[in-house]
Amino acid sequence: MSYIAVLPGDGIGAEVINESLKVLNAVEQISGKKYEIRKGDVGGGAYDKYGDPLPSQTMELIENCNSVLFGAVGGPKWDNLDPELRPEMGILKIRKKLDLYANLRPVKIFDSLKESSPLKYQLLEDVEILIIRELTSGLYFGEPKTTYNDSSERSAVDTMFYKESEITRILELAFKISQSNKLKLTSVDKANVLETSRLWRKIADELSVNYPDVQCNHMLVDNAAMQLITNPKQFNVIVSENTFGDILTDEASVLSSSLGMLPSASISFIPGESNLNKKSLYEPIHGSAPDIAGLGIANPIGMILSTAMMFEYSYNEKEISKIITDSVEKVINDGLRTKDITDSGKFCSTSEMGDAIYNQILLLG
Ligand SMILES: NC(=O)c1ccc[n+]([C@@H]2O[C@H](COP(=O)([O-])OP(=O)(O)OC[C@H]3O[C@@H](n4cnc5c(N)ncnc54)[C@H](O)[C@@H]3O)[C@@H](O)[C@H]2O)c1
Repeated sequence: MSYIAVLPGDGIGAEVINESLKVLNAVEQISGKKYEIRKGDVGGGAYDKYGDPLPSQTMELIENCNSVLFGAVGGPKWDNLDPELRPEMGILKIRKKLDLYANLRPVKIFDSLKESSPLKYQLLEDVEILIIRELTSGLYFGEPKTTYNDSSERSAVDTMFYKESEITRILELAFKISQSNKLKLTSVDKANVLETSRLWRKIADELSVNYPDVQCNHMLVDNAAMQLITNPKQFNVIVSENTFGDILTDEASVLSSSLGMLPSASISFIPGESNLNKKSLYEPIHGSAPDIAGLGIANPIGMILSTAMMFEYSYNEKEISKIITDSVEKVINDGLRTKDITDSGKFCSTSEMGDAIYNQILLLG
């Protein structure tokens, strides 16, 4: 029996994860396999209940599971808490504790959604990008990280810190994925200004000798941000440090028409190599979207595609993963739209989208 820790979190996190539970139910029906679901509290809701965004009982649940499905955390209600108690600490601590150093964020553009993107249709032809974001180091974790309340004026510091081993393992993963899929690799940094980026670029150049068949280029992050929307076709695999990857993927979601469309897998192994006893976490790239929470209009597709990634990476069930992805594509091609991916004024609810995908999985399975 496989145990899945399900952590809905705050805002639309709980709404979209409900639709993933429908998908799990459909997968059980078509595969005959059972997945035991254990729900836990995380984020602002967990703080309200236990005074901790990652209570010990949730961590225990994670330690005993095979994989984690995560909704999203955060919201204005908790914005003024001490940094250690903020909901976002819930997810940051899980990533660190499970050493989930690689965050894979595929950017796929469904044909029938090209018209919903603000970009010109022809710019989106043949675009398929995998963004690999370093997830357990850099600006989000470096010390010192604090605010100084000096008598003359306030100041604050965050630290961008990377060890060679941290850079090497994420770049190796990116080279290996690019090599096995015969894809071009773009390493994004800010080597004209930042020391961490200069080390990053040096290590990338050293590693590239071991992967002569991978075409690897470097790009400064400000240029990459511009190129992503003016010439996205040039990218296959992008690898970058934590903060740059976070920002670039939100930007890349515009290509696929909405932030609600993009999934992610946070892993600590190289895909295709042994993942024995490695726990991974799957979450959409969006946050808790307080502006639409409770309205029943959130797009659950990023969450559902994250569930498809879970079957591929945690359970090696590539066929199941494909059935889920194909079901999403079929439902989209049939014209069903949540509010964020249509301008027509006619849209379905979160739950209607989940039901349609559920029914489609049963049909395809
Ligand atoms: N991993 C996480 O849990 C995570 C990630 C990012 C942000 N956050 C937190 O989420 C909170 C809100 O942050 P934000 O507003 O900057 O980012 P957000 O991603 O929550 O929302 C940005 C915009 O995209 C829209 N959107 C996001 N997901 C959508 C979906 N599935 N369907 C339709 N529309 C969607 C929202 O309505 C909003 O207009 C903050 O507290 C932030 O810290 C959490």
